[in-house]
Amino acid sequence: MCADIDYQAQSHFVRRLHQLFGNGGTSHLDLACGTGPHIRHFVDSGFQCQGLDLNQPMLDRAKLRCPEADFILDDMCAFSVAAPVDVITCFLYSIHYSGTIANLKACIESAHAALAPGGMFCFNVVEKNKIDNRLFVRHGAKHSDGDFMFASGWHYNGEGEKQSLKLSIEKRAGLDTLIWHDEHPMVAVSFEEMTALLEPYFEVTVFEHDYEKILPVGSNAGNAFFACVKK
Ligand SMILES: C[S@@+](CC[C@H](N)C(=O)[O-])C[C@H]1O[C@@H](n2cnc3c(N)ncnc32)[C@H](O)[C@@H]1O
Repeated sequence: MCADIDYQAQSHFVRRLHQLFGNGGTSHLDLACGTGPHIRHFVDSGFQCQGLDLNQPMLDRAKLRCPEADFILDDMCAFSVAAPVDVITCFLYSIHYSGTIANLKACIESAHAALAPGGMFCFNVVEKNKIDNRLFVRHGAKHSDGDFMFASGWHYNGEGEKQSLKLSIEKRAGLDTLIWHDEHPMVAVSFEEMTALLEPYFEVTVFEHDYEKILPVGSNAGNAFFACVKK
């Protein structure tokens, strides 16, 4: 499903933000790290990395991919670290998995407590008021056991703090077609609400969701990248 994601460009973008706004340190923690694709790039760039995820099978794969890194089985909404870190990331909109505004606030507080002075917390966000329930991102991937078609789209009913990520996977192998549908509950938040939650703890800058350029976010953006420097 992540076959066409440019993990190198995303990791490089954060390292540039860290050079510009961060504290110059080299310890990194990736929240909701999954199988560790970003951690691989951070390790290769000279960072000492940790990954945190709720799912042990994901962490097992991450450890195979990144034997140099340490991995923590924990909830990003209630975690602590043994020693403060310089950069905390949470990629692929995974911060929305915090599920509720109360949990999102707890995640922000945990990240703030885990950062060294001047450390930076970076993540991407979808603006709830810009979600178009009809839009789906689709892509295909060929694999040894079949041809896959993936689709994903945000769904928000226009009020409240819940949105969902709708996913479908279609697998064609020979004459057989298998289709899976899934829906992940997530927290819905506007950029303004997110900024207000962060501001007691961080200097917040919101950027365009473009990993090639570092630009302030435009007023019509539906996705953005938040860079938050610990106060
Ligand atoms: C879409 S994957 C993203 C993985 C990785 N960041 C990437 O960009 O490929 C979302 C990950 O979030 C993890 N996750 C969901 N809720 C979490 C929570 N409360 N605390 C920690 N990890 C969580 C899942 O186990 C999954 O590995």
